[in-house]
Amino acid sequence: MTSINVNLPNQSYEIAIAPAGLDQLGEYMSQLQLGKKVLLVSNPVIFKHYGERAIVSLKNAGFEVASHNLPPGERYKTLNSIQKLYDVALQKRLERSSTMVALGGGVVGDMTGFAAATWLRGINVIQVPTTLLAMVDSAIGGKTGVNHPQGKNLIGAFHQPRFVLIDPEVLKTLPVREFRAGMAEVIKYGVIWSAELFTRLEGSKHLDQLRYVKTDLINDILTYSCQAKADVVAADEKESGLRTILNYGHTIGHAVESLTQYSLLKHGEAVGIGMVVAGQIAVELGLWSQEETERQNALIKKASLPTKLPQGLDIDGMIGALQLDKKVQSGKVRFVLPTEVGVVKVTDEVPTDTIHRILGQMIHE
Ligand SMILES: NC(=O)c1ccc[n+]([C@@H]2O[C@H](COP(=O)([O-])OP(=O)(O)OC[C@H]3O[C@@H](n4cnc5c(N)ncnc54)[C@H](O)[C@@H]3O)[C@@H](O)[C@H]2O)c1
Repeated sequence: MTSINVNLPNQSYEIAIAPAGLDQLGEYMSQLQLGKKVLLVSNPVIFKHYGERAIVSLKNAGFEVASHNLPPGERYKTLNSIQKLYDVALQKRLERSSTMVALGGGVVGDMTGFAAATWLRGINVIQVPTTLLAMVDSAIGGKTGVNHPQGKNLIGAFHQPRFVLIDPEVLKTLPVREFRAGMAEVIKYGVIWSAELFTRLEGSKHLDQLRYVKTDLINDILTYSCQAKADVVAADEKESGLRTILNYGHTIGHAVESLTQYSLLKHGEAVGIGMVVAGQIAVELGLWSQEETERQNALIKKASLPTKLPQGLDIDGMIGALQLDKKVQSGKVRFVLPTEVGVVKVTDEVPTDTIHRILGQMIHE
């Protein structure tokens, strides 16, 4: 078992990376002095695989457990789904000392976190992530929320979990495309924070399917990535500074996702393309070497992630979408750009014609 601490002024918490740890969920939680009532929140697909094991472990540890399945998919990440979750919380009489356990990917994690942040003005939440993306990213750091019809994640709250339990074995049932999308965020940590992780990824023959990635590498991937996220969150809990660097590849990625109506690409795939574009911008501005950019792009290809913008994408539309990004300040688009592997800088000094030209070169033919 590997343990990583997220050090925060108000409440620090542990991330445990433990193979087969799902069967110890109740034991881990009984060390946290929580109330007896637990609401396990999942979705039907994930619950079918892992719900019973989680419930058995919780009951064995003496918890009184109820469960609720959210409808699966990003399109149900809405206030309407949260309302139904509140109904269950009311019916089960959850109290201030009660706990919601999120068993699922980022969608389940964000929604459960938001419901826990707001029910009775805040009850405990435990994150048990089941996608690679959720393990290395969304389960850590306390960002919770739902979508508004006009935009993703517009409604939300910061609410840190009391504990994060990562059982790498649950990745065995994760669809391959989801695994690759999570790998984009892993590569991101290598570029922005951890040169060691970057080198470890370069040393692996495969990054595209779990069954070809050695178990000790999966453990390293999770450990380095979670440590990177924990370091950044500890330095800047509410995203007023350093935490911006986690958006590497996301400026372009979000614009591509929005222009393709969130249906063509997974978030991680869009981030992969965004990293290739950001790398090229950094080279053109003389910030990063061509050689290191190519090393980054080789990792993205090794994970079988796309490196080109979708065919027929409208470049002017992209520039327009960039202006709408949540991170735009005083009309200037902010980019996170690498200067060497493991180090980035944040700048809003990228000329629009440079962005335009590079995007033009990156369209799929
Ligand atoms: N809070 C944050 O800091 C943060 C960061 C990044 C992303 N997000 C959010 O995360 C969401 C995306 O999360 P995601 O990529 O985990 O996708 P997801 O939660 O939609 O899960 C992807 C799919 O995999 C299935 N699945 C999950 N685990 C499985 C398993 N072990 N076996 C079989 N199937 C499994 C799910 O049912 C779903 O169909 C987005 O809503 C995004 O906004 C939040």
